[in-house]
Amino acid sequence: MADHLSQTVRDLGQGDKGGALRETWQGVFGEVRFQKRLCKLLLKSRFLKAKFKRCPIAAEIVAQWEGPEDLFARIDSCHSSRANTFDLFRDIVPINGKGILDLGCGEAGLSCKYAGSGAEWVVGCDRNYEGWPLENAKGYVRYKGHWGKVLLVQGDGARLPFKAHSFDLIISNDVFDHIIELSEALQECYRVLKPGGQVVITFIPWYHPSGFHLMDYICIPYANLLFNEKVLLDVLLDLAAENPRIADSIPGLKGNPPPTSFDEMGLVLSRVTVIKFRKILQGTKFRVAYLELTGFDQKTKNPVLRAVLDSLTKIPLINELFTSHIDCILEKPTAPSSTLPSTPRGLRPGQRETS
Ligand SMILES: C[S@@+](CC[C@H](N)C(=O)[O-])C[C@H]1O[C@@H](n2cnc3c(N)ncnc32)[C@H](O)[C@@H]1O
Repeated sequence: MADHLSQTVRDLGQGDKGGALRETWQGVFGEVRFQKRLCKLLLKSRFLKAKFKRCPIAAEIVAQWEGPEDLFARIDSCHSSRANTFDLFRDIVPINGKGILDLGCGEAGLSCKYAGSGAEWVVGCDRNYEGWPLENAKGYVRYKGHWGKVLLVQGDGARLPFKAHSFDLIISNDVFDHIIELSEALQECYRVLKPGGQVVITFIPWYHPSGFHLMDYICIPYANLLFNEKVLLDVLLDLAAENPRIADSIPGLKGNPPPTSFDEMGLVLSRVTVIKFRKILQGTKFRVAYLELTGFDQKTKNPVLRAVLDSLTKIPLINELFTSHIDCILEKPTAPSSTLPSTPRGLRPGQRETS
């Protein structure tokens, strides 16, 4: 047991896919079959449903999107319902007149926001640009009237298809939790950024309560701490067998043979922890101008609870579980880093609405 726990701590530090946590749990509580039963039991919990279920299930929401207008309304609402990199950093990282790379732009919701807010031009780049994601993004860019100002490109963050020194600013919203080759992606950001340019990053860490990205289906906070990937996948497959709309909303579930990992299902997760991200940053040539952990305190009105939740983000290891987002600004030096001043004063992002 002691061995398991010390391995768990190392695991948190290394972000190695929760392996040791899983072992601990399995070592102490037994078989996958038992875990599966427990997971399903928890899924029936009215308390968890009432407290954490954000939407009926994603499939039911998908079914409500009918025409392109609805689709565009959804993309609009995606970024008005909660704060994002743009809202958080607009006061301290101006975008006026800049050439911006929106790394992992998805349906280009934020690319258009940057284009409509003073950026000179925006390149939206996403690994996953085949078929509908690109069509949705193109349609949205046209709908917002930014065709020509926003360019959409397929490309992997770890192998960016751009020349060196191309961008003034790179913004990446909710993407680093999906990029497996994070060090390579940061090296690429460094290469394509102009000297003096900045990278603004925000994402949720792996041990966030919904870090496993399936809360819409498996509404158990920290399920990836409690159950291994196989258990979660099995439960999801069972849910999809009961409700075909779940399989419709996650096409990767329909594979024959069925997927044996999140990756095979099409859910690519970098599983990066707070400690792991800090270590990766140390290995880059960037100057870290700002690195903050946002806690779950932002929505809370109770001042005592607020203070407690906020302070939990300051305690090493514990903060892995109580960080809502990692927010970070990196700068590519114009001069050798030893001559640069330390972290600029007064860097404070806007308030974030936590999910
Ligand atoms: C949660 S979405 C965020 C989309 C957009 N940034 C936003 O905030 O609306 C994550 C996006 O990152 C993209 N992505 C994941 N890994 C990537 C990689 N290695 N290179 C480029 N894009 C990637 C995915 O295809 C997906 O569109």
